[in-house]
Amino acid sequence: MDKFLIHGPTRLEGSVANSTAKNAVLPILAACLLAEEPCVIHEVPLLEDVNTMARLLRSMGVKVTLRRRTMEIVAGGDIEHTADYDIVRKMRASYYVLGPLLARFGDARVSLPGGCAIGPRPVDLHLKGIAALGAEVKLEHGYIHATGRPLRGGTMLLEGASGPSVGATANTMMAASLAGGETVIEAAACEPEVIDLAGFLIAMGAKIEGQGTPVIKIKGVKRLHGAEYRPIPDRIEAGTLAVAAAITRGNLEITNCEPEHLTAVIDRLRQAGATVETGKRRLIVSAGKRPEPVTIATAPYPGFPTDLQAQFTALLAIGRGASVVTENVFEARFMHVLELNRMGAKIDINGRTAVIQGVEQLSGAQVMASDLRASAALVLAGLAARGDTEVQRIYHLDRGYESLELKLGGVGAKIERVSY
Ligand code: EPZ
Repeated sequence: MDKFLIHGPTRLEGSVANSTAKNAVLPILAACLLAEEPCVIHEVPLLEDVNTMARLLRSMGVKVTLRRRTMEIVAGGDIEHTADYDIVRKMRASYYVLGPLLARFGDARVSLPGGCAIGPRPVDLHLKGIAALGAEVKLEHGYIHATGRPLRGGTMLLEGASGPSVGATANTMMAASLAGGETVIEAAACEPEVIDLAGFLIAMGAKIEGQGTPVIKIKGVKRLHGAEYRPIPDRIEAGTLAVAAAITRGNLEITNCEPEHLTAVIDRLRQAGATVETGKRRLIVSAGKRPEPVTIATAPYPGFPTDLQAQFTALLAIGRGASVVTENVFEARFMHVLELNRMGAKIDINGRTAVIQGVEQLSGAQVMASDLRASAALVLAGLAARGDTEVQRIYHLDRGYESLELKLGGVGAKIERVSY
C-alpha cells in the first residue's frame, strides 16, 4: 500500500493541467460494448478505475489496448454477458455494462455491488429503466439477471428520493439506443458526463435529443457502429485543484478544464473570498487570506456537486467563522470529518448537516482515507496544516486522481508517495 507524506503549510503557485473526466470515461468505455466495430477513446486518464473497467471488459472477451492515452476497444466476436462480483465489488461503475450487454445480446448478468463507504447506493432506478424497456429482471445468487430482446422503447420517470440518478440515466440511455421505437426518460440527470455519453452514442449512430435537460428522448436504431471520441475534462479534479489554491492562499492556473461545468463551484469559491478568473478551458484561482464562511447544500447538477463536498469542508475548516454544509445526495458522506477533526478542525455532524466552526490553522496528523473524495479532502487539509500529515490508504485517491502528488508537487507542494 502507498501513503502520502505532506509537509505544510505550503503556498501553491503555478500552472497545473487537469485530466479527462473519470466519470465521463467509465460509461463511455462500457458503451463500446454496443458496437462490434472498434471504438477509439482519446486522452484517457491513467487511473485505477479506468484499469478496472478495462479489466472488466477484457474478462468478458473484449479486446482492450492502451497506447499512451488512447484506448481501443473491440467488442466483436464472442462476448461473455457476465460482470463478476470480484470486479463489481471494487467499482460500482461496473454497473454501466448492464444496459449495453442487455441491448446488444438480450442477456446480462451483473453482480449486485454491495456496501459502499459513502452510504447506501441502491440500483433500483437502473432496474426500473431497463424494465420499462421490456426487460425481464431477476435477482439470482447475488446477481441481477436481465433478459429480453428486442427491447422496446418506453416512457419512465427515473427519480429517486435524492433526485435523478446519473448512473440510471446513463444505463437506460445506452440500452434505449438499440431498442425498437422511442424512449422518453423523465427526471433524467443533467450532469455534463451524461451529455458527454450522449455525444459518444450519437457518434456511434444513436438518435438522442434533450441530453442536459430533465427529459431525454431516444429513437432506437438497429445497430451502432464504432466511433472515435475525446471525453470532457474532469470538473471534480478541477474543483479539487481550485480548492488547493484557495486553502493554501496560493495562485493556480488550471488548464484543460471547462469553467462552464463549474458554475456553482466558482460561485462558492468567490463567496469564500477567492478570486476566480475564467478563460477558454482554464481557470485562475487565487486567495490571500482565510476563507469567509459559506453555506453549501449539495444537489444534482447544476447544483453544488456532492463530489466536491469533502474538499470544501476542508477549506471551510479554516474559515473565519461558522459554515454549514448539507449533503443531500449521499446521506453518509461525512467520513472525512472525523479525520479533519483529528487535525484540529471543529466540525459537528447533525444528520445530513456539518456545522463547521473555522479554526485559524489545522495541525498535521496521521489520517486515514475512507473514499476517493474524502482522501482528496485530507490531502488538501495536509497542504494547509502546520507540520507533517500522513494520509494512509491512498489507493482510494488513485482510483480517481492521476498522479496527484506530481501535479501538486509541480506547483510547490511538499508531498511524497511512500510505499509501506
Ligand atoms: C455518479 O454515481 C458518480 N459516479 C459519483 O461519483 C457521483 O457522486 C454521483 O454520480 C452523483 O453525482 C460515476 O459517475 C462513476 P447517482 P452514481 O445514481 O451514478 C440514488 C466519485 O467520487 N439512487 O446519480 O452511482 C443514490 O443513492 C463518485 O467520483 C437511487 O436511489 O450516482 C443517490 O442518493 C462517487 N437508486 C442518488 O440517487 C438508484 O438506482 C444519486 O446517485 C441509483 C441511485
